[in-house]
Parts: sequence; structure tokens; C-alpha cells
Amino acid sequence: MNSTQPFIETKEYKRFVEFCEACIKYKYIGICYGLPGVGKTLSSRHYSNWDYADRQINYKAGDKVRIDTDDRILNCHTLFYTAPAIRASKLTAELDILGAKLNLVKSKYNEKTYGIEKYTTNFYEGIHLIIVDEIDRLKLQDLEQLRDIYDQRNLAIVFIGMPGIEKRLARYPQLYSRIGFAHEFQKLSKDEMHHILEYKWDELDISIKKENFSDYEALTSIMKVTNGNFRLIHRLFTQMERILEINHLTSITSEVVEAARNSLVIGRK
Ligand SMILES: Nc1ncnc2c1ncn2[C@@H]1O[C@H](COP(=O)(O)OP(=O)(O)OP(=O)(O)O)[C@@H](O)[C@H]1O
Ligand SMILES: [Mg+2]
Repeated sequence: MNSTQPFIETKEYKRFVEFCEACIKYKYIGICYGLPGVGKTLSSRHYSNWDYADRQINYKAGDKVRIDTDDRILNCHTLFYTAPAIRASKLTAELDILGAKLNLVKSKYNEKTYGIEKYTTNFYEGIHLIIVDEIDRLKLQDLEQLRDIYDQRNLAIVFIGMPGIEKRLARYPQLYSRIGFAHEFQKLSKDEMHHILEYKWDELDISIKKENFSDYEALTSIMKVTNGNFRLIHRLFTQMERILEINHLTSITSEVVEAARNSLVIGRK
């Protein structure tokens, strides 16, 4: 993933934020599920300000506080963790390290900037929420590690997964009984997608210019093909760019959209 990618705060993102805040408020485990490409991972990283936090905790030995560390670090209360694709036996240790590092950076920063000397031995101090992405990869014993963290620490956990995960988790009664909320992360609505294509073009990080569109029909075709899926929007635009270049064209017509769609692996009907 490109970490400098612009992020559009969609309605679905706002619903996701509300969901996370509710989990924090009630200290629940929550499940958020949604189809591939709708924006679950990007929204989680944005909510946790993880591009920033991750950069701060990846210090070299001895350094601890980077030059660009600022007050924002004090507002980082969420850990974002991607479940490993293979063996997750070190899951607890890895999460402990994330928490410990974040707290160490905060303490070092406080000491350096404000002269406050306060170090903690609790890895999870100040952590309100842990978001675990790709939960589908985890086996029962891995999930048990998360249950244990949840039981021992006074915090909320949000699981991110594919549709169906909520049913799979129902097979583990002990874990399931701790789940307070389930939330479906939905694709963009037609109206919102229209709004984004009309008004938020610049934020999409696409090199094609809006003026390249020959007609409204082409825009309608894009909406139809991508069907509110963010990943598909990006893929389709990349293909359209290629098609324009190869054919020395400048204007996007429905034919260009159609040709781009045919060269996509996903989203073909
Ligand atoms: N709010 C957003 N603003 C701008 N682009 C977005 C946004 N959400 C998603 N995207 C685009 O869609 C792509 C897919 O998003 P993301 O990886 O978050 O999907 P996902 O739901 O986690 O999919 P998967 O289930 O496959 O992991 C991103 O790489 C990005 O290009
Ligand atoms: Mg994802």
C-alpha cells in the first residue's frame, strides 16, 4: 500500500469511526466485515493514524525519538496490527512490542519536549483500542491469544475481516460471547460515488484529468463498472490511463471505459 495515498473521509468511514468509538466506550470486542476493496484496511490505518505512528515506533536502537515526532504521538491510542499470513504463534509478543514501543516513544517525547519523566511498565497504557486486520487468517488458538489480551487489559478490540467471519467466530462460544458489536463496511453508495467523481477528483490521486471526459455517459459507465468499490475505481483508472496512452487518445469515452473494463481481472461481468 502506498502510505502517501490521499484518503477521502467517506460516509462509510464516518460510520466506521462511530463503530470504533462505541467499542471503546463499552470496551467491547467488535467485528467489522466487508467485501474486498471497499476500504477496511485504509480506513483502519487512517483512524489509528498508523502511517504516522508506525513511522515513529520504527526507530533505530538508541534513537527512540525521531526528529518529526510531535504532539500527535500523544494522541495515538490505537494499535493497528495485521494478522500474519502464516504462523501467528508470536501474536501476543508482537502486540506487546507494538504497545511497549509506542509508550516508550511517548515517554521519550514527553521527557525531551516537556521535561516530564514518566515511564511505564504496562505495555498497553494509554491504548484504548487494538485493531486486528485480516482476522480470517487466524486459527482458534491465535484467536485465543486475542481473547486473553482482551481479558487481561482494559481495552477494546476490533476485528477486521471478510463477510462470513462473524458466522465463523460464532463457532467459538467463549470468544463470541465477548463480541459486543458487528458492523458491515459497505461499498460507496451511488450518490456518494457520484459526489466523489464530481467534486473530489483531486483527492483521488489519479493522473487523468476531469477535463479528459468527453461526456457524462463515460462517468456513468465508470460508476456502473466499479459499483462503489474503491479498489476497482483505482484499477479501472490505471487501465484507462494505459489505454489512452497506447492509442494516443486524450478524451475518455464510454468505449475507453469499456476497453479498460475488459482488461481488468476483477469487476468483469
Ligand atoms: N477512503 C478512501 N479514500 C481513497 N481511496 C481509498 C479509500 N478507501 C479505499 N481506497 C482505495 O481502495 C483500495 C482498497 O482499500 P483497502 O485495502 O482498504 O480495502 P479492504 O477493504 O481492506 O480490502 P481487502 O478485504 O482486500 O483487504 C486502497 O488501496 C485505495 O486505493
Ligand atoms: Mg484489507
